[in-house]
Amino acid sequence: MTDIREEIAKILSPHIDGMTEEEIKQLVEVPADTSHGDYAFPCFKLAKLMRKAPPLIAAELAEKIKDAELFESVEPINAFLNMFISREFFTREVLSEVLSEADRFGGSGEGGGKTVIVEFSSPNIAKPFHIGHIRTTVIGNSLYKIFDFLGYKVVRMNHLGDYGTQFGKMITAYRHWGSREEVEAAPIKTLLAYYVRFHEEEKNDPSLTEEAREAFAALERGEKEEKELWQWIRDESLKEFRRVYDMMDIDFDDWSGESFYTDKMPAVIEELKEKGLLKESQGAQIVDLEPYGLTPAIITKSDGTSIYLTRDLASAIYRKKTYDFSKSIYVVASQQDLHFKQLFKVLELMGYEWAKDCVHVNFGMVSLPEGTLSTRKGRVVFLEDVLNTAVEKTREIVLEKGVNAELIDETSKTVGIGAVMFNELSSGRIKDYVFDWDEILNFDGETGPYVQYTHARCASVLRNAAEKFGDAAPKAGDAEGIRLSSLLTPAAYELTKLIYTFPDAVEDACRKYEPSVITRHIIRVAQGFNKFYHDEHILVDDAEERKAKLLLTYASMQTIRNGLGLLGVKAPERM
Ligand code: ARG
Repeated sequence: MTDIREEIAKILSPHIDGMTEEEIKQLVEVPADTSHGDYAFPCFKLAKLMRKAPPLIAAELAEKIKDAELFESVEPINAFLNMFISREFFTREVLSEVLSEADRFGGSGEGGGKTVIVEFSSPNIAKPFHIGHIRTTVIGNSLYKIFDFLGYKVVRMNHLGDYGTQFGKMITAYRHWGSREEVEAAPIKTLLAYYVRFHEEEKNDPSLTEEAREAFAALERGEKEEKELWQWIRDESLKEFRRVYDMMDIDFDDWSGESFYTDKMPAVIEELKEKGLLKESQGAQIVDLEPYGLTPAIITKSDGTSIYLTRDLASAIYRKKTYDFSKSIYVVASQQDLHFKQLFKVLELMGYEWAKDCVHVNFGMVSLPEGTLSTRKGRVVFLEDVLNTAVEKTREIVLEKGVNAELIDETSKTVGIGAVMFNELSSGRIKDYVFDWDEILNFDGETGPYVQYTHARCASVLRNAAEKFGDAAPKAGDAEGIRLSSLLTPAAYELTKLIYTFPDAVEDACRKYEPSVITRHIIRVAQGFNKFYHDEHILVDDAEERKAKLLLTYASMQTIRNGLGLLGVKAPERM
């Protein structure tokens, strides 16, 4: 899009000696008070260059530039040049840009193909994929889309928790009470039941504990039977996880998981030793992080087994070697803040300058209000059940609203699942929040259904125009050479301004690792469109005016669609 500050600099530049266009651009500001113009240029710095008083310079410059097409008017006020941008010019610029960029509108090439790793979701094998996993899954997926949209090469990693002593227990439990059919019918629920039973029976039968330890040791040695059982448990769990990912249209490029790094750990431990970082403490090997105000990083436990942090060290080093990332992002709950501080600090102490490129994107907790989702003590709420409930509830709502009957299945899915995902991305990620169905599915609130509905409404306006007037679908170049004065009303102009700032929202979301910046922005675009839709008559008889209004409708729809896409939420054409 035309960078307006740059345009202004271009216009001013021939009249200012001794300053580059870039320097001029840097001085152009957006006044807090809009009555001082859309943009302002302070003349203080010119006083020395031009040997004149700033107010005089402002007055002279105003005279020289006021007739440029870019401006509605230019007013010198004291040392400032206050510039009001021509609304019609601005509107044309914005619409042309959206029409020509289309699905790319809001994106850029700033990433220049640099590699970014986004690790997200990372549930634990044989454990429930529950509501607590939704945030990492949805935020991570959105960050992947945002970085991709800005021209980065993104590797999506699922660092599955597929290793640890619990697999010894699981294998033992399965050997005692398990059935293959039972597991295959409902892997996680069944495996979880075995695991719970193991813990109960273990209390009365210590030999089980010993057996489990032995099974895990065998797994570590890579013995055939244990390895196969573990692999089978992993595969069955993954099938179930994938079903949930498919519902949300989420995928990964790398599913390595913790087990993948076990054979890479000894080298890391050796390296820590060589670099003089390891210390013994009560039989364990640790890295002392006290000088940095952190508790010690435990590298191997007293029984010699390795732990989570050590696998993460091996994994970070492997990621750098394999992908040569410019950034490695971990989307993991704030409960693990300390873990990631320790991890990054140890990498730094090992002398890896790229430790600074590792980012922990943390987030707060989801809780459930008692009753609605049934959080009865200890009962886990499976993510899949939440998504299915969302679809069912949406079906009830849309049936009541009387939607197109053929679309009912598709709409309930798109809107129901979209609503849950959208909700995850609605407020700042660091905030804890309470999951509330009424809020999530409110078609009139600041919700997914509201934004999707607005998108479908835009599409429907365009369809009606085609049916009633035979208007062709808007395409690149359509905003050139047509009268846009009908788009200068407050409702239309506010909407145009929101569309104009969409690319900034995308960039801001990327810089802050905060998809909610985009969510908030498209909610405003949707609200802006609905205001325009209610305040004005779009399908007027005057062909040129109708065309202008349809272009704005189209640009709103495109902006909403691109925004929803970055959140991983579908944009239905009809609802
Ligand atoms: N599986 C872990 C959990 O459920 C999350 C893994 C986070 N990623 C990492 N590289 N440590 O708590």
